[in-house]
Order: sequence, then C-alpha cells, then structure tokens
Amino acid sequence: MLVAGNWKMHTDLRAADRLASEVVRLTDADARTVDVAVCPPSVWLEAVRERVRGTRVALGAQNVHPEEKGAFTGEVSATMLSEAGCTYVIVGHSERRRHFHESDAFVGEKVMQVMKHGMTPILCVGESLEERDSDAAETVVGRQLDGGLIGVSLRHGNTLVVAYEPVWAIGTGRTATPEQAQAMHAFIREKLAARFGAEEPVPILYGGSVKPGNAAELFAQPDIGGGLIGGASLDAEAFAAIVGAAADAARN
Ligand code: 13P
Repeated sequence: MLVAGNWKMHTDLRAADRLASEVVRLTDADARTVDVAVCPPSVWLEAVRERVRGTRVALGAQNVHPEEKGAFTGEVSATMLSEAGCTYVIVGHSERRRHFHESDAFVGEKVMQVMKHGMTPILCVGESLEERDSDAAETVVGRQLDGGLIGVSLRHGNTLVVAYEPVWAIGTGRTATPEQAQAMHAFIREKLAARFGAEEPVPILYGGSVKPGNAAELFAQPDIGGGLIGGASLDAEAFAAIVGAAADAARN
C-alpha cells in the first residue's frame, strides 16, 4: 500500500518544512507497513528532502516535462527531479489535464520519461461528473490508461502506480462510495492485467476527498491499494491518520 500527499500549490517554505517534519514524526511507525510519500511544490523539494532524508518518507513531484532538456521555459525535467531526490512523480493529474490541456499522449510521454530516470510515475486517471452521468466513466478511464501506458513495459525494474481520482470527488468533500471506487478499481485492475499480465505489482490508489473518517472503508476494498491525498495531506495529523488506516488495512 502507498499513501501519497499531493500538496498542490499550497504551503510557504516554513509551512512546508514543518509539515514534512511532522509527517515524518507522526507516520514513522506505520511507514514500516505502508509506503508513504509527500509531493510538495517543486521549489520546496530541496527543503523537504532535508526533512525526509534518512527517514521512511519518500519524496515525490507533482509534474514533469517529457523532454530531457531544452527551451521549455518554466518546466522541470525528470533528471532535475531525480537529482532533487524524488522517487515518485505524479503524472496526468486532472488539474493539469483540465487547466493545461494535457492530452493522453502527452501524459504517456511523461510516464515513459519518469521510468527512464528510475522513478515511479503515479499516473492519474478519472472521469468528470458529466462523463459519469452519461455512463462514459469506464470509456474515459480506459482511454486515459491506454494513452498513458503506450509503450510502457514493466520489465527492467520499471515500477508504476495508478491513481483513480474521479474529478467530481476532488476537493468537493464528495467521496466516491467504497463500492463506486472498488468497481472502477476492479476495471482498472482488469485493464492492467490484460496489459502487463495478472501478476503485475501495480498499486491502484484512490484519490478524491479522502479523510481520516472515510479512509478505512475505502482501503478495505480489495482493489484499492492506498490513497492520493490532497486537502487532508496539508494537515499532518489527518494525513498520519490516513496512513494509519492504510497500515491497518495492510495488516488485515
Ligand atoms: P482532495 O483530497 O483535496 O480531494 O484532492 C485529491 C487530489 O486531487 C489528490 O491528487
């Protein structure tokens, strides 16, 4: 199981520093049982790295550019993220797909680039409310998976995480029910098995208004392998409680 905190465009330097220290302190015991990662804004990666260095908490980035280097003003490369100490990179988050018009193909290039640099992409997929209401959720998620995984192989030590984040559940306080989430996770599991074989070790995280109060019932679902946490990851105690729920689920 993996629980990753996506801090999005939040925190100032002091808050990032303190949040990272608190996450390390409060999750230390459970991080023996589950993987824990924090994904701060890229300018705070170095500072947060100092707080998580030598601990069980891993560092992740929120985005990457698929090219190796070049004239891409404002972008950050996989080499840079790797050198900054990242082991995970969130790719294709719905906020990037929506606000920055990232296509499935572009997201797929990022997945490949992250793997090429020995890091683990957290490939985000998820349908909008209109898509769910028109019964297109599986079609959309299936297309996002196909596009995001073009050319991807899990040989040569490549590792992958998929996160299902229904857009209508992000930052809305409206979580998918455990049954809704499990149904989509089972669909994703089937797609991954068809693609990589049934034995592929790809955790499928759920994301979208995960809180200490609903984490346990989500993590109890057979195909939910952890969480990608937004708002609640900015509160170290709430985040640690979610990590605790994952550790409990992993032990059972
Ligand atoms: P919230 O937990 O704030 O709904 O955000 C989820 C998310 O987008 C994580 O990537």
